[in-house]
Amino acid sequence: MIRSLISNSAARAARSTTVGAAARPATSALVSKPSRGLFTSTKTHFGSAPKPALAAAETAAPAAEQFDPHAPTAMDKQTPPAPGEDFRVVIVGAGNINFGSDEGPWNHSFRLEHKLGPRLKVTALIDPSAARADQALTVKRNSFVLSAYKDTIVYPSFEAYLAAPEQKALKPHAIWVGSPPAYRGREEEGRNLEMQLIRAFPDVAFFIEKPVSTGPVEQAFNIAKRLEESKNVVSVGYMLRYLKVVQKMKQILEENNLKVMATNARYVMAYEHTAKPDWWDKNQTLGPIVEQATHFCDLSRYFGGEVDLSTVMAHSLEHSEPAGQLSKMPIDESKIPPDQRIPRVTCATWKYESGAVGSLTHAVALQGFNYQTELDVYADGYSLRLVDPYNAPVLYFRRPGDDHEEVVRYQNDDPFFSEVSNIIDIIEKGPGAAPILSSYEDAVKTYALTWAIRQASERTFKAYGKPDA
Ligand SMILES: NC(=O)c1ccc[n+]([C@@H]2O[C@H](COP(=O)([O-])OP(=O)(O)OC[C@H]3O[C@@H](n4cnc5c(N)ncnc54)[C@H](O)[C@@H]3O)[C@@H](O)[C@H]2O)c1
Repeated sequence: MIRSLISNSAARAARSTTVGAAARPATSALVSKPSRGLFTSTKTHFGSAPKPALAAAETAAPAAEQFDPHAPTAMDKQTPPAPGEDFRVVIVGAGNINFGSDEGPWNHSFRLEHKLGPRLKVTALIDPSAARADQALTVKRNSFVLSAYKDTIVYPSFEAYLAAPEQKALKPHAIWVGSPPAYRGREEEGRNLEMQLIRAFPDVAFFIEKPVSTGPVEQAFNIAKRLEESKNVVSVGYMLRYLKVVQKMKQILEENNLKVMATNARYVMAYEHTAKPDWWDKNQTLGPIVEQATHFCDLSRYFGGEVDLSTVMAHSLEHSEPAGQLSKMPIDESKIPPDQRIPRVTCATWKYESGAVGSLTHAVALQGFNYQTELDVYADGYSLRLVDPYNAPVLYFRRPGDDHEEVVRYQNDDPFFSEVSNIIDIIEKGPGAAPILSSYEDAVKTYALTWAIRQASERTFKAYGKPDA
């Protein structure tokens, strides 16, 4: 019981002192530290504790046990990377996720540079757009990370890269995949990147972005099976799982033997400045549930467990309905065929295999820049409310014996850095060196849930939609 671990007075102190980093130099926990209990029961560092060898998929289980709220995850809090042997990386996709953009904090190359320092050598950058690849490389070559990119060669495809004689002696330590999901996660040629990766590099680690596919779910599961059978370490980019507040939620549930009764996710996006036409076109990105709310479907599964997909129900508000008109459209939607335009709102419910109930509301409704994102998790006596995980993650939680919510905040937490750092540690130190929190198979299950929600909402729209109202 949590109350046996933290006294009421300590809990009150915790509630009233959501202190900043200044209160605890060199760490980032923001709840006052009780003499024993939640914050002292773990001895290992999240992401750095050597453990007996485990298969990559098995490393997910003990994550909450390994959680150390004081482990530094911000790049500026790391020990500067030491010089040493080259660490070779092949990057697939020269776009936003790998090289950054104004839209969000993602930028894998920046994290790789800070994890590996002078050891990083990007031997190849694969992208059919040579202009985009060159642009990304020019920025790097004009900066202090020149040594990592000065010999990078751009290839238009994975086949071209494999055929290049200059790459034969430069076997990569990791392949970083941030290409659009339409080109991977399937079995047919041209969209089966993972199969090509396994064949060419049966013992190299792969980092793969979400969503894992845009193709048939069964094919994605077949790819998951092939990856499971191979020796490759694989990590998928559901980075919110690495947030300290998320690990804290896991820890509270595990330490108190709680069964989740319900999850309720809300993702309300600010659409005014989302001017990428593909994003508004279901044929390009499969729509906002598969492309965007996937992070919250994934977190819902992370807490609620497996979903019984046959129970998924959903309604949507579509662009053709009176309530679906948006006044600040950043693109000319008339260029997108009506049946390909994205829903403005999707509300879904489902049953988990445990009997628990899950729900999601995704809305394209806010203007300005900031999204409103929240996830509630309920268990007997407990409410765990995760707020704003992208920008300023906070956990509000209520426990038995107290009607007030306590507040947990960790400053300088960088889940993007944690997911990068963990897979590099596994490559360098062995499979037990750090947890991988999102395996490929698990990510396919999230993909399956997002597809089920989209299909359910399209079914009910046909039956109940009010396009002519
Ligand atoms: N985890 C996150 O928070 C997060 C954030 C942004 C994007 N993503 C994911 O990253 C992936 C890429 O998104 P993005 O925003 O970088 O897109 P983007 O459009 O900015 O960039 C994609 C790049 O891939 C290139 N490309 C196209 N086909 C390719 C192929 N077959 N092989 C290699 N490169 C190819 C394009 O030319 C482009 O340069 C998507 O799956 C997206 O969902 C994840």
